[in-house]
Amino acid sequence: MKVAFFDTKNYDITSFEPYAKEKEIKLKFYETKLNEDTVDLAKGCFAVCAFVNDVINAEVIDRLCELDVKLLAMRCAGYNNVDINYAKGKIDIVRVPAYSPYAVAEHAMALLLTSVRRVHRAYIRTKDFNFSLNGLTGFDLHGKTVGVVGTGKIGRVFIDICRGFGMNVIAYDKFPAKDSDINYVELDELFSRSDIISFHCPLTEETYHMISSETIGQLKKGVIIINTSRGALIDAEALLEGIKSRHIGAACLDVYEEEGDFFFEDLSGHIISDDVLARLISMPNVIVTSHQAFLTNEALENIAQTTVDNIITYSKGEKSGNEIIV
Ligand code: NAI
Repeated sequence: MKVAFFDTKNYDITSFEPYAKEKEIKLKFYETKLNEDTVDLAKGCFAVCAFVNDVINAEVIDRLCELDVKLLAMRCAGYNNVDINYAKGKIDIVRVPAYSPYAVAEHAMALLLTSVRRVHRAYIRTKDFNFSLNGLTGFDLHGKTVGVVGTGKIGRVFIDICRGFGMNVIAYDKFPAKDSDINYVELDELFSRSDIISFHCPLTEETYHMISSETIGQLKKGVIIINTSRGALIDAEALLEGIKSRHIGAACLDVYEEEGDFFFEDLSGHIISDDVLARLISMPNVIVTSHQAFLTNEALENIAQTTVDNIITYSKGEKSGNEIIV
């Protein structure tokens, strides 16, 4: 059984090859992303395996159907880059709903600690034997209020981590967890009370631009915003204005609205065409990692194993429980 594997990185090959061989799946690794121009590479394949920045729109779905590709196997949890409504009845889709909530939640805290204690700046200074402490004053997380938007698998691990730091946790979720000890509040209240806000909800029409020029005014002055979920939860231009006006104290971003053209690639030596991204990166109080929160050995192994199992299960006409159902 052949599977076309798009947007391949070295770590994908290392993690997927052993499982695929064991289950007698032939993976055809392509570095290019899946889109209208590259979809024909899936010719002769039973399934395609795609990731967060592949473009699976109506045109791509139609062509996959013409090529008789049966299954779209997303090797990630989110699927906002797939036109699932259009795909309904045309091609089946599976995903990896959970591979390591710890990986993402721990990365969110790593970004927060880096920002608050200026580790990113200290690291560069001491590499240059500059041992000055000027400008490196941070603040204690203990006793601060953190607002968590989305209390699913990742949000809850992040809540536990924050509680371990002695932080006061409040949360908002459209579907609050029943019988939990989470202190839920309305989104407006979360925005106005939080010293730190961390996003762990999916990107949907409702959550698109949750942070915008309209909502920034509701936030506490000096708030730190963490986004390890999806870039478009935040209007990046509004965020930049909020940083420039000093209303927003810092931003920790693992995702960016227009990341598809940049993230995962080595563009050192190139001129970055996105002025908003370049300006954000130039800010001392903005930390950007390039959609790296998932990248742990444990998560990669789980992603590879579940994706391969999803494909095998589907090929046998059975259900894995990981189907995307519209
Ligand atoms: P999950 O499905 O377990 O939890 C999502 C939570 O968001 C649920 O509790 C849901 O009720 C809530 N939610 C849905 N609509 C909402 C709304 N309008 N407002 C507030 N909350 C809402 O998902 P999980 O595994 O915790 O992942 C969260 C997000 O993290 C994913 O959607 C994905 O975008 C992102 N992610 C990022 C990764 C990275 O490497 N940066 C890796 C994995 C996931």
